[in-house]
Amino acid sequence: MPATIIVGCQFGDEGKGKLVDYFASKAQMVVRFAGGNNAGHTVVKNGKEYKFHLIPSGILYSDVKCILGSGVVINGDDMIKELENLEKEGISTENIIISAQAHLILPTHVKLDNKSEEKRGKNKIGTTGRGIGPTYKDKVGRCGVRLGDGALPEKELKEVIIAHLMEHEDLLSCFRQDLFNEKVDNLTAYVKNIWEKLVPYISNDVSIDINKALNENDNVIFEGAQGLLISPEFGTYPYVTSSNPCAGGACVGSGVGPTKIDSVIGVAKAYTTRVGEGPFPTELFDEDGEKLRKVGNEFGTTTGRPRRCGWLDLVALKYAVRVNGLSKLAITKLDVLNGFERIKVCTEYNVGGLIVSEMPTNSRILKNAKPIYKTFKGWGATSVKGVTSMNNLPIQAREYLYFIENFVGVPIKYIGVGQDRKNLISRG
Ligand code: GDP
Ligand code: IMO
Ligand code: MG
Repeated sequence: MPATIIVGCQFGDEGKGKLVDYFASKAQMVVRFAGGNNAGHTVVKNGKEYKFHLIPSGILYSDVKCILGSGVVINGDDMIKELENLEKEGISTENIIISAQAHLILPTHVKLDNKSEEKRGKNKIGTTGRGIGPTYKDKVGRCGVRLGDGALPEKELKEVIIAHLMEHEDLLSCFRQDLFNEKVDNLTAYVKNIWEKLVPYISNDVSIDINKALNENDNVIFEGAQGLLISPEFGTYPYVTSSNPCAGGACVGSGVGPTKIDSVIGVAKAYTTRVGEGPFPTELFDEDGEKLRKVGNEFGTTTGRPRRCGWLDLVALKYAVRVNGLSKLAITKLDVLNGFERIKVCTEYNVGGLIVSEMPTNSRILKNAKPIYKTFKGWGATSVKGVTSMNNLPIQAREYLYFIENFVGVPIKYIGVGQDRKNLISRG
């Protein structure tokens, strides 16, 4: 029953794609369980960069089944484009299976996402503008459209579409019956078209495939998207995404019970980044922040936005360890800290004169939290890039890593020392 969940422990973009690709080499199945094309997961194989938005990061292995579970939201047009691009690159898509229970991101949702951001003005969330929030809102609001609805007879599909549009009448200027009817027809045709194009990949119930694989003792990797600190449940609300990036989300978004899970691996960068708005206690506005952005190439995989950069926040990481029930940690991008004279980690916050060692769960409090740092000496002119074992890392780098694992109480088993898939130290 070797089921492994891989989740982001910060604000997303921790390097989950690279870790999933590494584990996929020893797995039979990779399951994406949350998010949509707001995600951007990078895998670098022999110098070639692949960016996946909806496609699971196990796709570069031809014998690995890649599943999109019910917790994922699908933009049909983008899904089709990603599939076509893979085929163009000579990468087979025949092992991809998409849950019919996954909700569709409709053009309506993208419009609503952008309108909502516009209305919020300076209080905007800084979403990826992909319609993610409105799609999940409709899902729990019982007026969403699922991929599998495309198989319904036209009359019934129209009923689903009408229920969806009725909830958005005001925003979509559908007051006039003739305009409303036209919208219903257009959206019905749109959903049918997506269904027809994706039907070779769609399965009525992917939880059958996943549970069967687990019962046969296959290695199944559950690929998280986003990161705990942008979870709607546990993140810096309301500056969050709208699906569950935490380990518990893997069960909900794929149809697997918690008793089936063996281990949870949390991924964190050796520093911190964030795209979009919201509190970020260790954010740097000085040359160190600039250097992290430049050396780490910290620009969004999906939107190209510059990522905000700062030191590693161990108060937040400790929180991520607890909420996810982590078994192991992967620390990525250690090589980006090459050449820093000193490296800082946040171990506590000062909140209005009060020293706190646990994460304030209210963003309005967190935004006033001042980090208290422990400072480490850097490793000078030595580069950790491409180093293949922990023992060969400079002593200063090892001390940094030992401190992190002791502080959060979970062993660091994987260390990223370069972008390529081979630049990963495994401590067994
Ligand atoms: P994800 O969303 O968590 O999969 O992460 P992204 O792909 O959005 O962002 C991580 C970025 O860091 C990508 O460009 C990766 O190729 C890169 N990356 C991952 N691990 C390492 C590492 O150890 N060192 C360096 N230099 N880059 C890395
Ligand atoms: P991966 O899987 C980093 C952020 C957005 C915004 C907030 C809400 O690559 O780690 P949304 O479009 O989801 O409604 O935006 O969440 N966000 C991410 N940040 N990595 C991601 O995914 C993200 N997905 C969403 O920038 O702040
Ligand atoms: Mg990303």
